[in-house]
Amino acid sequence: NEDQFKKVISHAKEYGYIFASSEIYDGLSAVYDYAQNGVELKKNIREYWWRSMVYMHQNIVGIDAAILMHPTTWKASGHVDAFSDPLIDNKDSKKRYRADVLVEDYAEKLHQKAQKEIDKAKKRFGESFDEAQFVATNDRVVRYKTQQKEILERMARSLEKEDLADVKALIEELGISDPDTGSKNWTDVRQFNLMFGTKLGASADSAMDLYLRPETAQGIFVNFLNVQKTGRMKIPFGIAQTGKAFRNEIVARQFIFRMREFEQMEMQFFVRPGEEMKWYEYWKETRLKWHHSLGLGEENYRFHDHEKLAHYANAAADIEFNFPFGFKELEGIHSRTDFDLKAHEEHSGKKLQFFDHETNKNYTPYVVETSIGLDRMFLAVFSKALQEETLEDGSTRTVLKLPSILAPVKAAVLPLVKKDGLPEIAEGIINDLKWDYNVIYDEKDAVGRRYRRQDANGTPFCITVDHQTKEDNTVTIRYRDSMEQERIAISEISEKMQETISF
Ligand code: GAP
Repeated sequence: NEDQFKKVISHAKEYGYIFASSEIYDGLSAVYDYAQNGVELKKNIREYWWRSMVYMHQNIVGIDAAILMHPTTWKASGHVDAFSDPLIDNKDSKKRYRADVLVEDYAEKLHQKAQKEIDKAKKRFGESFDEAQFVATNDRVVRYKTQQKEILERMARSLEKEDLADVKALIEELGISDPDTGSKNWTDVRQFNLMFGTKLGASADSAMDLYLRPETAQGIFVNFLNVQKTGRMKIPFGIAQTGKAFRNEIVARQFIFRMREFEQMEMQFFVRPGEEMKWYEYWKETRLKWHHSLGLGEENYRFHDHEKLAHYANAAADIEFNFPFGFKELEGIHSRTDFDLKAHEEHSGKKLQFFDHETNKNYTPYVVETSIGLDRMFLAVFSKALQEETLEDGSTRTVLKLPSILAPVKAAVLPLVKKDGLPEIAEGIINDLKWDYNVIYDEKDAVGRRYRRQDANGTPFCITVDHQTKEDNTVTIRYRDSMEQERIAISEISEKMQETISF
């Protein structure tokens, strides 16, 4: 819901997680900076992914390819010709829209109208309501649903045939207007490539046109044979990578959900032709388990199997997450066949094949990929973790229940008062813990307020040093989620933290 989403955005700023990029110049649309806590959370998510993908699988290794790649890469991959969105401008408002999104929004309204009729009938008939029968026979519902289906099918057909004039005709026939101004004065529809261009070299004649990579995957494909040979990898094996990708998104909204500069965490798994469906199912399940392991609630994830497939895929599914604005794509699992390796073989003239000693055959491997946006994962974790709780005494607290393993600051060490040698003991504890954990010192305000500050910051443990500490070397450890407190020896702190933070 919208209110919850607004709270997420303002909390991310107030607690030093995310700032708009170049904010003093009023920001840059769909570009964001990670602040002192955000950079830690992002790093921890990346590490959690890396450990479970690379260290937990003996047959997966990592690489870090450059953002800039030879321009033929993008010709071979199909991005030069096919990585584009259909655009339309409104002549009066001068606003630019994705033509397909305008049509989809119109179709979605028809769906909502049908749903309204269904809900009304449900209320009227109560227990005895047969929804399937109602949907099949009620005139209005049938009309809305048929129209919705026809519109979407016609648009898909037109886009497939590159018949952009028909997409415009559809927009005009449906009477779709500018969502902001109501004007129906549209330009023609044209394709807009999402890749950011740049130039290599200084002199005008020798400069080479390059692109900032729109996905990290291609850096893996072009290195397939290098890694296979030098790592002496046997099929099946995987190559993992995290890194920046860039897309000149037209509709960039919803905070860090859709950005122009973002980070991907991708893994390409090379398999024997014919075995790709087995591995596709394996990676779907494995990736879903990874998400569940963070404990944000299994009901917040679902699969969405694609019917319409990209040019390179023979099967594809999204893991969708329940964001504050509804279920949306978080990760993609794609069976990419041998499309990419074959295309690079063709364009480079080099063989990218594997000799399989078990079958005594040479072949171009098939690929199953898992691809997740790091920033999108950040948004998923952060938005689900942010909670308002009503306590027993009726007061409320804001708490960021981040999985401990991902929390930016693992513990805050708090001297009860700023005197009597307590700050020195607290600093001593920090000096012991800082080798293993990101820990901070806080002595400002009453201890209750300090606890609340750490709750809102997502810090799983507070360690309080008081006068008793001087006598028996014990401290109070307070747990963020339960707010329970326990008296433990200083020597036990690290072990206590280890229980919930270790991988
Ligand atoms: N190599 C396959 C690939 O790039 P994709 O579905 O285009 O597939 C994969 O992107 C993931 O990258 C998405 O599921 C999403 O999490 C993330 N992603 C894509 N575009 C993004 C954007 N503009 N901003 C943030 N994350 C994005």
